[in-house]
Amino acid sequence: MRTAIVLGVGPLEGLGAKLSQRFSREHHVLVAGRSAEKLAPVVEQVREAGGSAEPLVTDATDERAVQALFAAAGPSLDLAIYNAGNNTPGAIETMDAGYFEASWRVCCFGGFLFGREAARSMKAGGGTVLFTGASASLRGRANFGAFNASKAGLRTFAQALAKECGPAGIHVGHVVVDGPINGDKIRSGFPEYAEKLGDERMISLDGIVDAYEFLYRQSRSAWSFEVDVRTHLENW
Ligand SMILES: NC(=O)c1ccc[n+]([C@@H]2O[C@H](COP(=O)([O-])OP(=O)(O)OC[C@H]3O[C@@H](n4cnc5c(N)ncnc54)[C@H](OP(=O)(O)O)[C@@H]3O)[C@@H](O)[C@H]2O)c1
Repeated sequence: MRTAIVLGVGPLEGLGAKLSQRFSREHHVLVAGRSAEKLAPVVEQVREAGGSAEPLVTDATDERAVQALFAAAGPSLDLAIYNAGNNTPGAIETMDAGYFEASWRVCCFGGFLFGREAARSMKAGGGTVLFTGASASLRGRANFGAFNASKAGLRTFAQALAKECGPAGIHVGHVVVDGPINGDKIRSGFPEYAEKLGDERMISLDGIVDAYEFLYRQSRSAWSFEVDVRTHLENW
């Protein structure tokens, strides 16, 4: 069975969990994230649905941990998804330097560690490497300077990786999630905001996962680098 890695898995109703579930239909999935408590129910749900998965506690900013993750995947690695990232709002004038750096470490530097190990692992046999972006990947906005810089850096890193690794049969893609996701992060973290938006103004998790699957299934004679997803009501 081919192996997939999803790094950046949190709650069951989150993108990392949904990606793990979808790709476990055809892959053994290494479900990776910072907290064992969050990974366990995701793996359990995959197994209950007849899929194959295992949890691997991995901090995306830790070079050795990311290398260990790819070592665990071994030569059957076919798909690697970098989904780690939390929004980091804040005005630039009052922003602590450590806060900016921490945002960059998760959203951008971790993507470099991940992409580099994926390139090394897939060099011989090819594969697919996908990165999760946000509205922040494409434009700067007041009070989101740290997140904008980090996600934009991740996007251009992914583009460089795509160009370096394409000839080896490694398809690198980037999904721009342009708006709030209808998942646990917004529903539990910001219930009033979720209520105000309503279902129609939040992007469906299944719809986002479809975009990853679309990229994954493309033939190498017609690859896309990027897919953007937003609701029909998004003001963009
Ligand atoms: N939620 C949204 O509305 C939204 C909108 C646009 C784009 N996005 C992007 O979509 C992706 C997934 O977001 P989501 O909100 O649905 O969350 P999710 O997929 O449910 O979970 C993403 C996970 O990344 C994890 N993470 C953070 N830092 C990490 C690190 N150093 N090492 C490993 N994992 C780490 C977080 O873990 P912890 O739980 O431990 O913090 C979080 O659970 C992110 O890249 C985010 O930027 C989200």
